[in-house]
Amino acid sequence: MAVRLARRMSELAPYLFADLDRKKQAALAKGVDVITFTIGDPDLPTPPEIVAAGQAALADPLNHRYPAYAGAKVFRQAAADFMLRRFGARFDPDREVLALIGTKEGIAHLPLALLDPGDAILCPEPGYPVYAIGARLLGAVPYQMPLLPQNGFLPDLEAVPAEVLGRAKGLWLNYPNNPTGAVADLDFLTRAVAFAQRHDLVLLSDNAYSEIAFDGYRSPSVFDVPGGREVAVEFHSLSKTYNMCGWRVGWAVGRSDLIKPFSDLKSNLDSGVFTAVQAAGVKALSLWPGPLEGICAEYRRRRDSLVEGLRAAGYQPPVPRATFYVWMPVPGGDDRAFATELLERVGVLVTPGSGFGASGRGFVRFSLTQPTARIAEAVARLKKLGAG
Ligand code: MLT
Repeated sequence: MAVRLARRMSELAPYLFADLDRKKQAALAKGVDVITFTIGDPDLPTPPEIVAAGQAALADPLNHRYPAYAGAKVFRQAAADFMLRRFGARFDPDREVLALIGTKEGIAHLPLALLDPGDAILCPEPGYPVYAIGARLLGAVPYQMPLLPQNGFLPDLEAVPAEVLGRAKGLWLNYPNNPTGAVADLDFLTRAVAFAQRHDLVLLSDNAYSEIAFDGYRSPSVFDVPGGREVAVEFHSLSKTYNMCGWRVGWAVGRSDLIKPFSDLKSNLDSGVFTAVQAAGVKALSLWPGPLEGICAEYRRRRDSLVEGLRAAGYQPPVPRATFYVWMPVPGGDDRAFATELLERVGVLVTPGSGFGASGRGFVRFSLTQPTARIAEAVARLKKLGAG
């Protein structure tokens, strides 16, 4: 008997990074020394103080029981304290903060609390694939807003058709931006808040990269903008900030009339974040900015080494002010062919931009998750290949 899968499975492509990982494993199996610049999964270790806090909490049998559904009070308080210290925005940890099993989980599940089949949600494209997947899985419609170089990779909100706005309930934004490395200023965020107010949209701000910034750049929050509190829920993660991707911990913060139903929904789906992981998260937040200076300095060295090397090899990468991604136009404009050629001829694996959406065609993304020696090696290989 063949398993008769749900129709939605035929719409679901393999997850971009699972697919790239398969390509990497196949090349490794052939003996290729692959240098991987794909998933944004920091190679740097979680700072030792955070690991120690997690270890201590792991040893306490009380933490082996089910966690609190919405997150331990101490974790929600630490997240609220961070929002106050970092952005000057005060939140009630009981009503306005919800722990997430990493922001991917929250981003994927939030549409279940907000959207009905047929509703629309505005998503940046190229963008983190999960914004659209979460909506699509429940029969809602992600409306893709192109992020184009001529607009500084900001969406043209006024270009969203009235018919779509009539059905839309949410607007995803993500600055500092994955995959383009672009940043948004307060003027853009002010316009986005006004747009959300005008069209009755919840502004969903994915701020996972807020702390990875260079050259004195300080990334804002949507809560820095007048009116932001009235329209927004923001998603934060410890994955990128403190090299904690594997720990799976983040939080959503903002409007209580979305946080509460979202929390109720999640209590039906999952049993929360492991309490020992939340204890490590509390430690991480208490250290802020602490280890970040060293972490960002390392990414800046890597960024400079990659960008200078690529330029010397004849490519034209921009210099990102935030995130650990370099979004580079490819010679000839065929990003998939370029990425395949790089892997097959020189063992360098990058993410084709079109994997993040049609407007990513013509770009590849390098993540700065390799030490400088490997970056130098990759650049040397690319030089041999020539920029075409
Ligand atoms: C990325 O590399 O774009 C993301 O961090 C990957 C992910 O979260 O799955």
